[in-house]
Amino acid sequence: MGDGMSEKSASWQADNLGQSTKPQGFIRHHPSELMLRSVLSGRYCSTSPEITPQTRVLDIGCMYLNNLIPFHDRGCACTGVEINADMLAISRSAAEAQGLAIALHEGRNQALPFEANSFDLLLAINVIHYEDDGHGLKAALREYHRVLAPAGRAFIVSAGPEHYLRASAERLGPNQFRIAYSDFRRGQVMAYFDDLQQMKMMMGEVFDPVSTGRLMETHDQASVDFFYGMGVKG
Ligand SMILES: C[S@@+](CC[C@H](N)C(=O)[O-])C[C@H]1O[C@@H](n2cnc3c(N)ncnc32)[C@H](O)[C@@H]1O
Repeated sequence: MGDGMSEKSASWQADNLGQSTKPQGFIRHHPSELMLRSVLSGRYCSTSPEITPQTRVLDIGCMYLNNLIPFHDRGCACTGVEINADMLAISRSAAEAQGLAIALHEGRNQALPFEANSFDLLLAINVIHYEDDGHGLKAALREYHRVLAPAGRAFIVSAGPEHYLRASAERLGPNQFRIAYSDFRRGQVMAYFDDLQQMKMMMGEVFDPVSTGRLMETHDQASVDFFYGMGVKG
């Protein structure tokens, strides 16, 4: 089992996010541009899925539901999971504010409250690295694979070495990094894929085929670096 109801899990809460209490009320968050290209356009990623109103989509760590909206727009059956009651309340209020019909449940990378073969597309966008180490990454990948139907796709995004949160982290060992950046995650241990080849290899232990890609943005204050993998359940 992952980190249970650890301090790390409990640190995901409205007070630490700050964005849920803007005076204007609810503000929509934009979907991941990397996801829009990789999943919804057939041009970029060789394993991108076909999206139809029959597609069952699960978003892990769905927070503001921003990454489910493009699928909701296309009539897909959308489900989200969040890690604790506080985060689930954020997702519920995002659904209510936008009139979104999305099924919401409490769940985590390693323990998803669904039967095997329940989804056609699983999104794990910047959530798998909240595992503690390489064993946690592998257990999460097995759980993602379990809930996907045959030919289902897992779209997984995690931080690469130039990402501001990871670049300043202390590397403790293979796949283990202690966050030094000063936000609520400071001091927490994260599990990152060491490099893109390793992400492809670890995903390849359960998915076949696996396509990978990377997005980097450089700014003068903080830069981002994202690895992605799209795996097919054979
Ligand atoms: C950086 S946010 C990403 C939110 C959203 N996926 C996005 O891309 O906008 C990380 C999310 O992971 C969730 N999370 C943290 N630990 C988790 C775990 N062990 N399993 C699943 N989700 C987790 C948090 O509650 C939060 O929603």
